[in-house]
Amino acid sequence: MNIHIREISKDDCHAVWEIEKACFSDPWSEDAFFKELCNPICSILAAFDGEITAGFINVWFVAGELTINNIAVREEYRRHGIAKKLINAAIERYPDTEQVLLEVRESNHAAQELYKKLDFTYTGTRKNYYTNPQEDALLMTKTIGGKK
Ligand SMILES: CC(C)(COP(=O)(O)OP(=O)(O)OC[C@H]1O[C@@H](n2cnc3c(N)ncnc32)[C@H](O)[C@@H]1OP(=O)(O)O)[C@@H](O)C(=O)NCCC(=O)NCCS
Repeated sequence: MNIHIREISKDDCHAVWEIEKACFSDPWSEDAFFKELCNPICSILAAFDGEITAGFINVWFVAGELTINNIAVREEYRRHGIAKKLINAAIERYPDTEQVLLEVRESNHAAQELYKKLDFTYTGTRKNYYTNPQEDALLMTKTIGGKK
């Protein structure tokens, strides 16, 4: 497996959306991914194994805060460090990052383990944040420091 990571273009949106649909019970629409490409605060990075899109991360960067909106890796590519690489690539993409923020379903222990491994800590709960099924979100944060 030879993984490389780059920003996606319109041509990659369909493959990214297929991963989104396979991984989430309340997926974004394909159109939402197209629209995000025109959003100046957004970056969508994907991990490729040759021609195969193995995973992606969608982030927003505003005033030192990098928010992870979504991250997913195709099932057959999991536990090979791809999510870790995607998060680190997103942080490198925005060198002025001071804080990385995200929400995660309370029941999503795999993702919580990933974030804990990358030194995210629990900072709060948003009650009933998710639908389908309704569930609380845990807020997790990682401090980077940013360039001074
Ligand atoms: C969560 C997810 C993105 C992790 O992707 P991944 O590429 O498999 O993660 P990595 O291989 O980079 O994992 C890095 C570390 O995170 C932890 N981790 C990842 N998945 C884990 C799991 N299922 N159980 C326990 N720990 C896990 C481990 O410490 C792992 O290191 P190790 O494999 O050396 O033990 C993937 O499981 C996924 O796409 N899930 C569905 C979508 C989702 O839930 N996204 C998160 C929304 S908040």
